[in-house]
Amino acid sequence: MRTTTQINSNWSFHEGAEKALIEAFAAGRDVTLPHTAVETPFNYFDETAYQRAFTYQKRIAWQPAFEGKEVALVFDGAMADSVVYVNGETVAAHPDGYTPFEARLTDLLNKGDNLVTVTINGAENPAIPPFGGQIDYLTYAGIYRDVWLRVTAPVYVSNVKVETLDALAERKSVSVRVLTANPQKLPLEGTVKVTLKDATGSVLATSTAELAADVKLVFTDLEGLSLWDLDTPVLYTAEVETTHASGSDSHAVRFGFRTAEFTPEGFRLNGRPLKIRGLNRHQAWPYVGYAMGRRAQERDAELLKRKLKVNLVRTSHYPQSTWFLDRCDELGLLVFEEIPGWQHVGDEAWQAQAIANVRAMVTRDWNHPSIILWGVRINESRDVHDFYIETNRLAHELDSTRQTGGVRYITESEFLEDVYTMNDFILGNEELPGNNRPRTALRSQTEITGLGRNVPYMVTEFNGHMHPTKRWDQEQRQAQHVTRYLEILNAAYGDPNISGCIGWCMFDYNTHKDFGSGDRICHHGVMDMFREPKFAAWVYTSQCDPSDEVVMQPVTFYARGERNIGGILPLIVLTNCDEVEIRYGSQVVKRVKPDRETYPHLPHAPVVIDHRVFTPDELGLWGMQWEAATITGFIDGKEVKSIHYADDPLPTTLEVEADDLELSATAKDATRVIVRALDQKGNILPFLDDTVSFSVTGPIKVIGPSSQVLKGGSVGLWVETTGGAGAATLTVTSPRFAATTVSLTVA
Ligand code: GAL
Repeated sequence: MRTTTQINSNWSFHEGAEKALIEAFAAGRDVTLPHTAVETPFNYFDETAYQRAFTYQKRIAWQPAFEGKEVALVFDGAMADSVVYVNGETVAAHPDGYTPFEARLTDLLNKGDNLVTVTINGAENPAIPPFGGQIDYLTYAGIYRDVWLRVTAPVYVSNVKVETLDALAERKSVSVRVLTANPQKLPLEGTVKVTLKDATGSVLATSTAELAADVKLVFTDLEGLSLWDLDTPVLYTAEVETTHASGSDSHAVRFGFRTAEFTPEGFRLNGRPLKIRGLNRHQAWPYVGYAMGRRAQERDAELLKRKLKVNLVRTSHYPQSTWFLDRCDELGLLVFEEIPGWQHVGDEAWQAQAIANVRAMVTRDWNHPSIILWGVRINESRDVHDFYIETNRLAHELDSTRQTGGVRYITESEFLEDVYTMNDFILGNEELPGNNRPRTALRSQTEITGLGRNVPYMVTEFNGHMHPTKRWDQEQRQAQHVTRYLEILNAAYGDPNISGCIGWCMFDYNTHKDFGSGDRICHHGVMDMFREPKFAAWVYTSQCDPSDEVVMQPVTFYARGERNIGGILPLIVLTNCDEVEIRYGSQVVKRVKPDRETYPHLPHAPVVIDHRVFTPDELGLWGMQWEAATITGFIDGKEVKSIHYADDPLPTTLEVEADDLELSATAKDATRVIVRALDQKGNILPFLDDTVSFSVTGPIKVIGPSSQVLKGGSVGLWVETTGGAGAATLTVTSPRFAATTVSLTVA
């Protein structure tokens, strides 16, 4: 049977890629993967810092278990252009930073120590997608995903594809395609056995066939199975076992039963209409760029599903970690995955690599029930007929069960995909020359496509650079940011011919000098880089059903003089309550219902409190006393949530919230911690820019600087395990608060 061992620790890391390093081990910096070649500051840095060559070396000692087996290294991802050498011989080269690759070690291993050397070139090589033009994100160099040592029988399972063609039928069928590798070209005699199991491990069915390079086993009449759906993401497993004279192998994949279909009348999941409400996500973090492991990947999926309550994420603009996709499967979060690229299309060789990326993406990810659409165009590129004929053809050939899309921003571009996926940035931008459109509707799809008929259609980006907003921006600007999200979501909900819309984007991200606010950040997220929400995040959150979570977030810092003119009106309360009460001082009490007039199509329109509710002087004017307030949400006449605002906010509590208190000692593990300065009512102090300092005990360290300035009243950090088990603490100190300590366990 196979063994697959994570070999992330004890890599010797070097600057450069000298020939001597390929031939002999040299003591470099001892690093654990996932690893970023160059740590970057939070902002204002030179993005060329990591755009050069680096080398990783590892000694692999011969093990008796290798005897007579196939031995390979599996790299989940390394940026950007990698070459793998074993004992000085080149065994693999991979000119893509986002897809996995393997290095076959069989026959190359000595019965002693062996040297594996991986050179990676972090240069933005114009011969490789996504490079060749400008790109609005960074591609941090390093072996930034996991590496595995896989030992299998000489004939082994190289991939499995599960298809559930009649998912909605009472009695379901499953077809399992098993691909075997036989690099030693042995006679292929033996068996392939497939066992289907449910999540508890109970066997549903088994089937056996003769071993071949490509075998399909079909199961029919399966009864009592559940669909994979957003609220009930039921997963099943197909376990594959091969037997062969040279040994047996096993491999298991998860799958789910669901249908997903973009139609001219909108999207349907499991036959039911579903309006897609999504966000775009980059795979980046402060300081370490792409190099975050399983827990942080999973956490992003959890934030999207549970905090932001979106139903889809687009992996802009490349295939992302399988840890992330696995979590999307488990959580019931739809995914639109796309090949690497951004606006630029290179020459034929470049295009051939992009076509190879289609194959790598589809064959890696075809079993994820969460993935409902393949993006087979370079994001926002011009029409390149032959190239896109081929990317579409290949995606369909490899996977006939999913539709293709291709994100564009040019209207009337050639429609070769199944779904017209368009970045529609116009709504809300009166500044754009000639744009006098109402803020109540997105452009109609026929206006964009020029096709004269409706086709499957989805808006894949909006907002972003049209309205950059920082979490610490003035309240009024944040209210405008919120309003755009409300208007665009409302418009998408109101147009049955739009499958949905995906906002740009989940969180702020580091970028090249050619984009962003000059600080190397695009402040385009509904969250900041620490995944701390801006007010706009609650536009999404508040669309959930109150049975899931009661949401009530007033868009205010609550002060007399933060906005122009003085006061807090119009006050948007993002909520799924059916009524909101505002109590100002001890006298003034008003109740307001959601603004269905302005936002008729949203599942949960916000409450907007303005001068229709208050006479101009009820909240007082500049020069009058400012009073405390309470905002209370009601559902069916019952009080469900209250937020209290102080008239004299003072620094009271330094809240230190860790996502996890238990970390794994077995791997490089990391968890996020958010530090917030709160007033006596528990509200954030948005302008308290104090320094906070971090110190640790036990087997953890802080990623990034050991002291930071609160931004908008809060700041985040990640603590990372350093090897070994035991108790750990993180203490946060600052000039104006008592020190706060969080205790963690590394086990
Ligand atoms: C789009 C692009 C995104 C991002 C966004 C900013 O054109 O696809 O990657 O740059 O603009 O709004």
